[in-house]
Parts: sequence; structure tokens; C-alpha cells
Amino acid sequence: MNLSNEEQEAVIKVMESQMLTLLHGTYVKQFEENFANYIGVKHAIGVNTGTAALHIALAALDIGPGDEVIVPPFTFIATASSILHNNAIPIFADIDPKSYTLDPESVKEKITNRTKAIIPVHLAGISADMESLQKIAERDAIHIIEDAAQSIGTLCNGKKVGSLGTLGCFSFYPSKNITTGEGGMITTNDDKLADQCRLIRHHGEPSWYVYNRLGYNYRMTEIQGAIGNVQLKKLPKFIEVRNRNAEFLSNAVDQIEGISSPFVPEYCKPAFNYWIGRINPKEIGLNKNQFIERFPKSKVLYPKPLYKTKLFQEKIAYPKGCPWSCPFYGKEIDYKTVSLPNVELITTEIFALDIHPKMTQADLEENVRIMRKLAKN
Ligand SMILES: Cc1ncc(COP(=O)(O)O)c(C=O)c1O
Repeated sequence: MNLSNEEQEAVIKVMESQMLTLLHGTYVKQFEENFANYIGVKHAIGVNTGTAALHIALAALDIGPGDEVIVPPFTFIATASSILHNNAIPIFADIDPKSYTLDPESVKEKITNRTKAIIPVHLAGISADMESLQKIAERDAIHIIEDAAQSIGTLCNGKKVGSLGTLGCFSFYPSKNITTGEGGMITTNDDKLADQCRLIRHHGEPSWYVYNRLGYNYRMTEIQGAIGNVQLKKLPKFIEVRNRNAEFLSNAVDQIEGISSPFVPEYCKPAFNYWIGRINPKEIGLNKNQFIERFPKSKVLYPKPLYKTKLFQEKIAYPKGCPWSCPFYGKEIDYKTVSLPNVELITTEIFALDIHPKMTQADLEENVRIMRKLAKN
């Protein structure tokens, strides 16, 4: 986290105003306007988490029982669980072996007449191949919801991620490029969908005691909005430092045999959130677990494909087996038979390193020193 007096002063101002909810205050509204401008979209809707953003985005598109949504298995659980929250079916497609983001060729193979949306994840500041995904989506009239939680500020073909799909979803959890403690945002250019997102965020209630659809209380608080406004001003600087730190690690690792740095596709201008390294176990004589054990500052990143977790293997969501046994679905799906070669290999070779603005040059150099030592073993 990277908070200073400015955020503290902003929080005090909110408290002095005595207005702590967006229903009465103006800070969330300001943050929404500033965020929409930054991303380059017409609308931004502030919510209390990135998970809520995904839940609402799917609900706004009326995705529900019997519908399939394609996701990568190499991501945080919320990308897939938000589909279950809407009683729809997550279908996993493989990831690209270089960018680790959703592989458009694999997506093509997973599309059925039940596919309603694709959720590409812009991973660690690297954008998914939106142009190829958009071609597929347009051909089959499928919506794209961008999960941009980890890529605030990333560009894809010159445009900010979160402005390319039907809807974009962001998280402001403390590890993200900017934070509001907890928090999230939905972005869109579609006026009607923006209205629906606002409705769903607030009990489906457009005015007091009028209930027009099923909704939740997913509102962002004024304190979150005020912190977000300050953080957003600092975002370009944060990105500059994160990118510089990532570049330092990548340049150093390019000289180390047996470890490789993140691949940046041509279409992407990254806003690195963390740095993903990859080992060649044969070359360095260590498997991933041995490597990470000897490198305590490194982090395990998504240790297995999501479809291999208990939730999917045993299909434990709603009582009575929903959404999988829902009569609207009428198909059998067994995640035990899912086999996606790229993600299954990559999860055995990958690790992550911090590059946040509080990292010192000495921290970065120490990480390089350890990687050099481990690779020589
Ligand atoms: C890819 C991805 N999607 C969704 C989320 C969910 O965001 P939150 O933790 O704010 O609910 C996160 C992060 O935490 C994430 O990394």
C-alpha cells in the first residue's frame, strides 16, 4: 500500500462532511467521473470490491441459469466464482503459453450456443489479446467482460483496458495499482448497462422503496471514493515506478539461464502489477516448490488451474447441485475431464515477485542475487 498524508486529509474531509454513504455524498461520484475519464469510457460505477464488480457485470447482461461463460483457469477465484454467483456455468479455456492470458484459439473451441460471455483476465499488468477475442465475440454476438483487476492503466492497442469490452471490472484491493482498502469499479460505454449496474449495486432500487429488479448492497463508501480520487492522481507515478522495477528485474533475469522474464505482447503497453518469473526446472535442477522454498520473497501464483480445485472437481456451489444440475442447463459437465496443457505446465514453473513502489533498489538487487544463485545450483 502506498498511502500518505493526502489520503489521510481526504478521509478527514469526508468525516467532517458527516456524509459517509454515496447516497448522500459526492466523493464516489467524483471518483467515478475521474476514473471514467482516465479509462476513456462514458460510465464508471463504484462498488465495494472487484468481486462485486464482476457479479454485477454478469447480472447486468442478464446472464444466469443455463448460460455458459468462458474464463481462463489461471486467475483469482473471483473471475470464475462470479459466474457461479449468477447461477451460470464457468467454461475454462487454455492460456497463451507466452502471455499467460486467455488463448483466443482455445476460446474458439469452447464456444457453444449457450455461450453468453467471455471474461479475459489482464494478468499482472499484461493485457489479453483483445483484438482476436473481439473478433470471436463479434462473430458469435457474445459479450466480453474484461477482468482488469490487476491491470489498472494497461494499454491494449493504444486503449486502456476496461474500455474495450462491453464492460470492464476493476479492483482496488491493497495489492492493486491503486487502492481504496477494498473497492471496485465497473466501466462501460453503454448507457443502459450503466443504469442496470447502478440499480443492481443498490437493491434494484431506483428511488426509495421502488424495487425494479433483484439487487444487492454493493455500494462503495464515501471514504473509499475520497481515497480513490487521491490514488488516481498518483497512478501515473505508481505505474512508472512499477514498470521501472519490472524492467530492472527483466533485464537482470535475461542474463540468467533457466529463468525467464514476463513476455510483453506487441499490442500491449503494460502497467505492471507484479512480476511473473518462470523457471526451467530441468535447466536449474529445482522444481517450482524447491525454488520457492529457497526464495522466501517469491510468491506462489495460482498453484493449480482453477478447474482442479475442490469447488469445481466436486461441483459445490448452490444446494441441489445448481447451477450445474439446473434444468435450464440440461448438459453434463465434468471438470475432472478438463485438460488444458498450457496452464497445467505453466502452473508448475511460475512464481511472482513484488514490484510495488515501496520496493527499494536494494530489495530488487537482493531478489536478482538470489535468482542468480539458485539458477547456478
Ligand atoms: C484477476 C482478479 N479478479 C478479481 C479480483 C477480485 O477483486 P477483489 O479482491 O477486490 O474482490 C481480483 C483480486 O483480488 C483479481 O486479481
